[in-house]
Amino acid sequence: MPSAKEKIAALRREIEEHDRRYYVEARPTISDAAYDVLYRELRALEEAHPELIKPDSPTQRVGGKATAGFWQVRHAMPMLSLDNLFAKDGLDGLKKWIGSVEKLLPGQSLEWLVEPKVDGLAVSLRYEHGRFVTGATRGDGETGDDITENLKTIRAIPLHIEDAPEVLEVRGEVYLPVSGFRRICDEMRTAGEEPFANPRNAAAGSLKQLDPAIVATRPLAIVLYSPGECSGDLPPTQSALLAWLKQLGFPVPRFQKLCHTADEVFASIEELDKIRDDFGYETDGAVIKLNQVALREQAGYTSRFPRWAKAWKYLAEQAETRLRDITVQVGRTGALTPVAELEPVFLRGSTISRATLHNEDEIRRKDIRIGDTVIIEKAGEVIPAVVKVVIEKRPANTEPFDFLSHIGGKCPACGHAPRRDPEFAVWVCENPSCPAQKTRRLEYFAKRGALDLEGLGSIVADALVVRGLVNDPLDVFTLKLEPLGALNLGTDEEPRIFGGKNAAKLLEACQRARTMPLARWLHALAIPEVGEETAHDLAKHHDTLEAVADSALLRDVVALDRLHTEADAANPRAKVNRDKSDMEKLQLATQHTSLIEQANATGARLLAAGFASPAKKKNATDADVTTVVGPVVAQAALAWFSSDLGSETLRRMSALGISPRGGDSAAGDSPFSGKTFVLTGTLQTMSRGEAQEKIRAQGGNVSSSVSSKTHFVVAGPGAGSKLEDAQKHGVTVISEEEFVAMLGGAKTEESPKQDELF
Ligand code: IVH
Repeated sequence: MPSAKEKIAALRREIEEHDRRYYVEARPTISDAAYDVLYRELRALEEAHPELIKPDSPTQRVGGKATAGFWQVRHAMPMLSLDNLFAKDGLDGLKKWIGSVEKLLPGQSLEWLVEPKVDGLAVSLRYEHGRFVTGATRGDGETGDDITENLKTIRAIPLHIEDAPEVLEVRGEVYLPVSGFRRICDEMRTAGEEPFANPRNAAAGSLKQLDPAIVATRPLAIVLYSPGECSGDLPPTQSALLAWLKQLGFPVPRFQKLCHTADEVFASIEELDKIRDDFGYETDGAVIKLNQVALREQAGYTSRFPRWAKAWKYLAEQAETRLRDITVQVGRTGALTPVAELEPVFLRGSTISRATLHNEDEIRRKDIRIGDTVIIEKAGEVIPAVVKVVIEKRPANTEPFDFLSHIGGKCPACGHAPRRDPEFAVWVCENPSCPAQKTRRLEYFAKRGALDLEGLGSIVADALVVRGLVNDPLDVFTLKLEPLGALNLGTDEEPRIFGGKNAAKLLEACQRARTMPLARWLHALAIPEVGEETAHDLAKHHDTLEAVADSALLRDVVALDRLHTEADAANPRAKVNRDKSDMEKLQLATQHTSLIEQANATGARLLAAGFASPAKKKNATDADVTTVVGPVVAQAALAWFSSDLGSETLRRMSALGISPRGGDSAAGDSPFSGKTFVLTGTLQTMSRGEAQEKIRAQGGNVSSSVSSKTHFVVAGPGAGSKLEDAQKHGVTVISEEEFVAMLGGAKTEESPKQDELF
């Protein structure tokens, strides 16, 4: 008779093998019912012998508890994204790129692998000693959310792999098959919830769930295609890598075409386009990668993307439908945008009932009228747009559209008379108290990539503003549990109450936002010209918001631009000065030299500070630099900080005890600098969030699992398996007291205590 231990091991192996056949090979060999029998048998045996339960048992996929939020994981290697090639640039565009890579690698015969570009969410899976230990979202490419427990619920992800290197990170895309998407949306509609807009949003929304039990109900899938950190040797080509990943038990792209010329690549891209609708999941393009890994490093990277791979974007999909009405939306900055209200139509993966009409001039140029039959188009992430009218189908009684009379001369949200911005062809509501603008600003503040206030979507933002709970985005930090829980999201006649549980979740998200890094805050504050990427650039070179507000670097960028303009005007050899007298030219020459000297000194300062790189041109001087941000951005950021709104924002944040940190300021000689910490057990003198914040503020990293890369495990009472892991990896374990002592040695800023916040 086999022992329970042997029986359990055999069942696990059998279930894993069936998972592999189902998810990797797409060739199941038993029925779902037969699989369930095996699964239940294993669960019964484990219940009878709980000491034999292992975290990587198939029964433990939904073992994780709901969490208040996600820990951040710093990727061992950054997760890159790809630059695009567009179908409209055709074979020529492709040849141009391939030619540019060939130039970088002379004398090499290059191979290209074409794969589908799956439209989902990029994730990284980390295996140590063959066990799945951490799974993370891409985040900003450097740091992502630790979503290990959620990823464990995806049965296509093996919880352990055989014959793998000690450390192996694999990267890929989590997606939701279209059938699963439709099912979830139906369920949401039945529950009176707003369904997801498309499978990608559904996949992202599912992975962001704080309760793994909910994630487990979403039929998510995954495909793996890139390596991350690996302690052993990786296969020499992309095709060999995919074969190896498949052998290890990972699902890999189902379409892989090895090509040798641009023509072959183009043919493969076209072949993929013909069959991709039958995949059962959305693809938004093709990915073309240099197959030979050794040559990739030689081809190198631009500031943001690898040179050796591109994403090919297929032509936008179009559909025909009827324009039922035109409504006007008020944006964050007061811009009034006309929106097409359409007869719903299905377009590659989602039902579309609204599309942007851009602005008044666009509507006039295309002569779009209410009642028209129109062609709409959806291109990747972009909101669908109305491309043109099908004139032949125009009904008899339509009238040309007149923007101002359509809105009765008033902002549809607040009734103020709008003003037309002559430069951008937009009507703008300039009422600073316009509730629609407040709502949009709040939504922007709360969105992913900004402060990530989960639960604060458009409906909640709207209700918070309309019910007077939020006037300015920073007001979210003064929200109290009870009134927030009682918030009515519906109408007075048909109330829909936000609820205590949701309110508590939102307050927790606000709590996390307090310690978000400077880059997130710079983004969230919606400073003109400062988008997500610029926010990151600024945060890298500044420690605090005050440092950005008073930035000598930004002032130098603006000054350098001005000096360039003035020097050009004072150049005695310039065309404009051709007719000047010799005397005047002499004066100009002195002025010109002095301006050039000042520009050189300013450029040299920017170069020395790493805020600029030398311009790539012949005879470049110190004044010819490419700055990290341009003069328009620098000027806009400085202007915002010195405006009433900017200074009031800084004052309020300081009063609220919010002081986001950026730069490498905290690094230096701090004992935390560059070290990775894992927290376990309950800390007595601070919350985990506070401890994380303090570690990061000192230049350290926080991870949720112990590995050989961990430097310190901080163990409080109730510490569990992480303590054993620490011993296994020989990692130093310190008590909370020791941790606090370490902090004592390093200067930290006090963060407010929980009860002061609500
Ligand atoms: S390779 C350095 N391959 O598309 C290589 N990406 O636009 C990084 N994606 O961030 C990515 N399918 O999230 C690669 N077969 C595929 C892909 C793929 C989907 C996503 C991925 C990436 C984005 C780039």
